[in-house]
Amino acid sequence: MADSNFSLVDILRSNIRNITPYSTARDEYQGVALVNLDANENSFGSVGNGSYNRYPDPYQIELKKVVSKIKGMPTDQMFLGGSGSDEGIGLLYTAFCEPGKDNAIVCPPTYGMYGVSAEINDILCKEVPLTDDFQLQADKVIAAIDEHTKLIWICSPNNPSGNAYDRQAVRKVIEASPSIVVIDEAYIDFCNEPSWTTELKNYPNLVVLQTFSKAWGLANMRLGMMFASKEIIAVINKIKLPYNINGMVQKYAIDILSNYASQKGEYVAEILAGRKFLEQELAKLPKVQKIYPSDANFLLVKIANAHQVYLDLVKAGIIVRDRSKVKLCNDCLRITVGTTEENQSLLKELRKL
Ligand SMILES: Cc1ncc(COP(=O)(O)O)c(C=O)c1O
Repeated sequence: MADSNFSLVDILRSNIRNITPYSTARDEYQGVALVNLDANENSFGSVGNGSYNRYPDPYQIELKKVVSKIKGMPTDQMFLGGSGSDEGIGLLYTAFCEPGKDNAIVCPPTYGMYGVSAEINDILCKEVPLTDDFQLQADKVIAAIDEHTKLIWICSPNNPSGNAYDRQAVRKVIEASPSIVVIDEAYIDFCNEPSWTTELKNYPNLVVLQTFSKAWGLANMRLGMMFASKEIIAVINKIKLPYNINGMVQKYAIDILSNYASQKGEYVAEILAGRKFLEQELAKLPKVQKIYPSDANFLLVKIANAHQVYLDLVKAGIIVRDRSKVKLCNDCLRITVGTTEENQSLLKELRKL
């Protein structure tokens, strides 16, 4: 079980503890009305052909029911973000961190938004780097916790390294931490490990982020998920923007997630096959020095003169992510697994270099 010192009330930002949330017209009346004159909408309709004149459900109840079936998580332990899981990252800083006073712990190299969002909120990010083979240094993370540490960011499978962390190391951090531990599982669908959502009942300080942007192929829709205790989700609901997921996205997501969810498995299978193929073919190239093991939909590849290779690929119209300046990623490119044709085009260019 988590450290018994964890107390949600104590770790909340003081002004958030007793905040009165904005109450939308839709919060105050939820039944079926004959005449809706409560929200200053345009009762005549909306320009164009659609019917978008009414504000959407602020808590996305119908959509959450669909997500609940897919994820096996109750709707009151779920927050949905209309700007992807990045929205959840920002809200966690708002909920827990006092600007100019509190801090968070990040383990570089990792996803950049934990640091950017900290800066936006004037929160110090303490860095505890991963090992050379990109594993979590649990003891060092625990040693870095102080009385002002409110959030610990653990990205597993990690971006940009691609690997999932050793589960025992993650568990050690969760159990030792009196602060919130956030596990970002953006790439969980490509990984053999179970989601940490299965452990939420054991750990009141655990928050899990997931997204529809990767395996589901819905990056354009911007829909992210946060799973945590009912109490944490209630706090996030209090501070979120009133209508944070627009009605078009809610309607579309309900439809496709109800009717086409099985397609996700097909995409994952194709991507995993593509990842294996890319690994095998990249390993044959003399310039490639190392391909890091991946539990995600991309590969981190160490390649001689990586920045120049990146520029040469750009000239050929092939864009990968140059990570060569990132801590522990010297001479590394991050390559997303594409379609068979895309993977072949990449390999063709790399063979020419
Ligand atoms: C680890 C990680 N978390 C979160 C995100 C953001 O996801 P979303 O599209 O849901 O905002 C990304 C995007 O690349 C990511 O790599």
